[in-house]
Amino acid sequence: MLSSKEIGKLNDSLQELQPKEILKQVFERLPSALISFSGAEDVLLIELASKLSLPLQVFTLDTGRLHPQTYRFIERVRSHYDMPIEMLSPNSERLEKLIKSKGLYSFYEDGHEECCEIRKVAPLRRKLNGVDAWITGQRRDQSPSRAEMPIIELDSQFSTESHPVIKVNPLADWSSTEVWNYIRMFDIPYNELHDSGYVSIGCEPCTKPIGPNQHEREGRWWWEEATIKECGLHLAKLNTED
Ligand code: ADX
Ligand code: SF4
Repeated sequence: MLSSKEIGKLNDSLQELQPKEILKQVFERLPSALISFSGAEDVLLIELASKLSLPLQVFTLDTGRLHPQTYRFIERVRSHYDMPIEMLSPNSERLEKLIKSKGLYSFYEDGHEECCEIRKVAPLRRKLNGVDAWITGQRRDQSPSRAEMPIIELDSQFSTESHPVIKVNPLADWSSTEVWNYIRMFDIPYNELHDSGYVSIGCEPCTKPIGPNQHEREGRWWWEEATIKECGLHLAKLNTED
């Protein structure tokens, strides 16, 4: 496991590198890193990792509320790369309790945090409890809260005192245009919803297509304040390590 100091130094040295080289260097140090897969950026990471013949371990948080097109997309990716994709499910007791007391659409009334915590954050926390590092497809230009995102960092949200977790964002410096140019050029599978005006895709009840000149995350949790469009997987740092 890398120390905070080593992570900081590595982060500095990765800044000018392309995602493929970043992945290569990360896997040299953290061979058991998992790719967290849900969207276009993540398939690009899978494509790069498979080109490098890196050990692919991929998981998806199956909230149970994804679009049918997204489930089909997950299956296409699985067969295209001929690899297993681990589907993580929410805790059934917590889910049943929420639905029994508040119904299936409580997030429109009292915000998305409670449902996201049960369907996404808790399953991720459970998974990360047993791994050293995870890799995401986040980009800095996706939202102001991601603008300062490092390429590699100690995940302050999911690390515990006894179990540090490293988070890697190899596409931090890439734009949406760069991602999509790559996807088109190499004929990489993508979610068919992108052909119907969807840009950033999450759960079906919490995602809608966007119009011209709207920001890509405006279709996510559109009934809430623009400043809190994070589901809890990627909260900004709460504490700083030395
Ligand atoms: S979210 O926090 O708003 O839902 P976003 O959709 O921008 O996240 O995706 C950013 C990154 O988080 C993705 O590239 C992926 O690595 C990870 N991620 C988001 N949703 C999921 C999911 N359902 N399963 C696995 N990883 C996910
Ligand atoms: Fe629930 Fe919506 Fe969050 Fe999905 S995005 S977990 S449906 S609140």
